[in-house]
Amino acid sequence: MSEMKWALVILAAVAVTGCTKKNPPAPAAEQTDAVQEQKPAVAAVEPILPLPSSVDVDMDKVILGRSLYHDTMLSGDGTVACVTCHSLDHGGAEPRKTSKGIRGQIGPINSPTVLNSGYNFVQFWDGRAKDLQEQAAGPVANPIEMGANWDEVVERLEQNKEYAATFAKLYDDGVTQANATDAIAEYEKSLITPSRFDKFLLGDQDAITDAEKKGYATFKEVGCTACHAGINVGGTMFQKMGLVKDYFAERGTQLTDADLGRFNVSKNAAEKHFFKVPSLRNIELTPPYLHDGSQETLESTVKIMGTYQLGRELTDAQVNSIVTFLKSLTGELPAHAKPAS
Ligand code: HEC
Ligand code: HEC
Repeated sequence: MSEMKWALVILAAVAVTGCTKKNPPAPAAEQTDAVQEQKPAVAAVEPILPLPSSVDVDMDKVILGRSLYHDTMLSGDGTVACVTCHSLDHGGAEPRKTSKGIRGQIGPINSPTVLNSGYNFVQFWDGRAKDLQEQAAGPVANPIEMGANWDEVVERLEQNKEYAATFAKLYDDGVTQANATDAIAEYEKSLITPSRFDKFLLGDQDAITDAEKKGYATFKEVGCTACHAGINVGGTMFQKMGLVKDYFAERGTQLTDADLGRFNVSKNAAEKHFFKVPSLRNIELTPPYLHDGSQETLESTVKIMGTYQLGRELTDAQVNSIVTFLKSLTGELPAHAKPAS
């Protein structure tokens, strides 16, 4: 790999560690040894940051958002809901290569997880939505996803007595597109999944096994954390797929518009094939992998990352060890995530 590209990776790593060091704050000078002992020994120097155990959300809006998220009323022909492509039984994603919208139409790209998505710096593979509320407006009106339009959806919600009453109670202006997407975003913000690995980061050395610790060490050693770091083990930057070797030339299938990634938004040629680095939380639950859904297993995906992102052929032992670590990132959904019935 060229020096320039290494510099990029190293820069990214420095940027990330730079952030983690600021937070949590360094112990105060006057702190006694006894207090310092109780501090999480690892958290301050690790590239991955623990998820909070809870988030500050308005639970009434969360419950409304949960209903909307599961309701096919938001689609043009009443057959598709958000949960169709972001299933809570599949880690917030779906077990398909690319997603399937109304009237069986096949989309161009793999559906990412909605879990912990509030911690991504932007939404979508190409970052075209700045936050969850802006994101939620997209699929409803997308002709091959939910194929509705918001005027029609707002009218349907107004005509539904239960929805109309709930919106009226929670929002001064009742049912509007902005309020519906606000409630959906509030629900998504609440979908955080603390894992055993977070317990480890917070100082519980026994929360993960020795094999998982070894895998984490390998993950750091080979350079994965240059891109996959922060609270979401990803979601903090755009990076080129095929940073050190041309992934698309060797993939063996035709280049699609979706493969252009960030370029589709910025039209900047230097950003061709750049994608938001995806979160690796719950990655065990969300095959197939990559934006093109081309990889069925975590093992093959990790190997590809070594080859195309780091310029190194990982051994099977390294790959398996990293995969063992990645599985410790599988967390638990909050109790309210699924509707009661
Ligand atoms: C037909 C399948 C489908 C439906 C229905 C759907 N999505 Fe998605 N969703 C996708 C796909 C595919 C992407 C990735 C698209 C892209 O990045 O270009 C995506 C991206 C997202 C993301 C961005 C996650 C990230 O890390 O960037 C969020 C959040 C999300 N969807 C939430 C929702 C919500 C909320 C709804 C309902 C209002 C919904 N989706 C409906 C398929 C779907
Ligand atoms: C230079 C930045 C970079 C480095 C280094 C890197 N990745 Fe990635 N990773 C990405 C990007 C960008 C994607 C999305 C690529 C795509 O979908 O085409 C990705 C995708 C993934 C995925 C699939 C996620 C999903 O939801 O489909 C896994 C798993 C993964 N990386 C693991 C690793 C591991 C393990 C390492 C170290 C061996 C690593 N990555 C190193 C940038 C990087």
